[in-house]
Amino acid sequence: MPSLWIDTAPVIPTDTFVPESSFDTVVVGAGLTGLVTAVLLARSGQRVAVLEARTVGAVTTGNTTAKVSLLQGSVVSGVAKHHNTGTATEYVNANRRGQDWLLQFCADAGVSYETRDAWTYAVSAQGAAAVVEERDACRAAGLPVQSSVETELPFPVEAALKLPDQAQFHPLEALGALAAELRQRSGVLVEGSRVTEVLHTGERVRVVTAAGDLDAGSVVLATGIPILDRGGYFAVVKPMRSYAAAFPITGPVPEDMYLSVDQPAKSLRTAEAGGTKYLLAGGNGHPVGRAAHTRDRLTGLSRWAQEHFSVEEARYQWSAQDYQPAAAVPYVGELPVLGRRIYAATGFNKWGMTNGVAAALSISSRILGRPDPAGGLFKARISVPDAVTTVKDNAEVGLQMVSGWAGGLARTTDAAPGEGLGVVVREGGSPVAVCTVNGVTTRRSAICPHLHGILTWNDAETSWDCPLHGSRFAASGELLEGPATRGLNPA
Ligand SMILES: Cc1cc2nc3c(=O)[nH]c(=O)nc-3n(C[C@H](O)[C@H](O)[C@H](O)COP(=O)(O)OP(=O)(O)OC[C@H]3O[C@@H](n4cnc5c(N)ncnc54)[C@H](O)[C@@H]3O)c2cc1C
Ligand code: FES
Repeated sequence: MPSLWIDTAPVIPTDTFVPESSFDTVVVGAGLTGLVTAVLLARSGQRVAVLEARTVGAVTTGNTTAKVSLLQGSVVSGVAKHHNTGTATEYVNANRRGQDWLLQFCADAGVSYETRDAWTYAVSAQGAAAVVEERDACRAAGLPVQSSVETELPFPVEAALKLPDQAQFHPLEALGALAAELRQRSGVLVEGSRVTEVLHTGERVRVVTAAGDLDAGSVVLATGIPILDRGGYFAVVKPMRSYAAAFPITGPVPEDMYLSVDQPAKSLRTAEAGGTKYLLAGGNGHPVGRAAHTRDRLTGLSRWAQEHFSVEEARYQWSAQDYQPAAAVPYVGELPVLGRRIYAATGFNKWGMTNGVAAALSISSRILGRPDPAGGLFKARISVPDAVTTVKDNAEVGLQMVSGWAGGLARTTDAAPGEGLGVVVREGGSPVAVCTVNGVTTRRSAICPHLHGILTWNDAETSWDCPLHGSRFAASGELLEGPATRGLNPA
């Protein structure tokens, strides 16, 4: 299911891996966060390498909806409730710096973006209360939001907020331009290079891959969720997967960017690619690996869009995940445990187009020994007020762990699953993941190589997904994303 962005991406030239090379900084991950960090460091004269396990933008940045907005659903009131108005203001300011940097970069690099008003709306009374809370929190944090129920939506809304002059863009075009600037400044960008470990050697750091090691002064883990368990990030972020589809339009559609606060959330924006204008709809999310029949989520999203808007059948359908932080703001900084000179950024809560750039500005400043533009906003790790959310999330994870093992060990069957289906069965006392895709039945261990969660089948994407911390694997067992660093073991 390639996204509209990946299918219409520019060609992005890359470099070959040369083992034992030495760099000032190695950035792991070529999504928006990693490439902006790399460009910022290269602009300051550092020699930088970016190692990407798959291809540039292959994971969340290439499957986002790419709104570059400071109105972010009900996020600002969430930050204010979890912390206070001061932190919410710092959050907005950091995101504004991220937005400004990104749009200036696009303007300078000739990457087009469209200016649009952003809306947060509600169709229920409960949602309307959340919109009012968000209005108050945004105004207190310095965002000039306007209340109005005069939207372009073809159904009545109970309440809505508008923030004028936000933006939307094609994320792969931006990544292509970032990659070009990095390489022009003598940076190195390698695809197909998965980092499996990062080790301290005296004052330097070794970056380990299957093809050999690199030597670095600093390492930045811009891998979505950080890959090194010693940061403990897997316990303080909740992986949330959601769906998106692009529909060629056949009549007038809403031109602004919309996001509902009612759950499951619905997101809308337009996009033009390859001479066709699309309406993009997103939403119907759930915690990774914890929804049965994910295909129904995608079908439901398409049905909703076709019911309400003048569009053809979906030409693209895709899915992606991002990480909800227990702290309500992203975790950005040097790893808290044994992590000197190793930095990470995660927990963008589906607002990484601005948060990812804010994180890149913060990490690059810290590496260069400059003041952090985000001040004290970003912490590397959980603090006391986050503990309640963390305990609750980890209790859910524990429950999934127990039910996964109990469920996986209880069921047995010899029959191959039907096309597009997967089941976990017991073979010799161990859970085995059996699936059939394109007529090929594959058997792999159903135990996630990260911390031994039992995988569940995702029928929308024919993948094995881990309900504990969000690692995902192709039907063949190959690792797709998440904190794991290797694929599934043979059955
Ligand atoms: C459905 C959806 C819609 C969204 N819409 C919006 C939106 O409208 N606006 C907004 O602001 N945000 C949005 N977001 C959030 C935003 O897309 C993400 O926060 C952002 O793309 C994260 O970028 P990143 O660079 O941190 O991570 P990624 O883009 O995931 O990049 C991480 C990279 O690291 C690589 N990697 C991982 N492990 C390794 C390893 N061991 N070795 C080497 N490489 C590795 C991966 O292959 C990947 O390419 C959305 C998210 C989702 C899921
Ligand atoms: S992702 Fe942690 S156990 Fe699977």
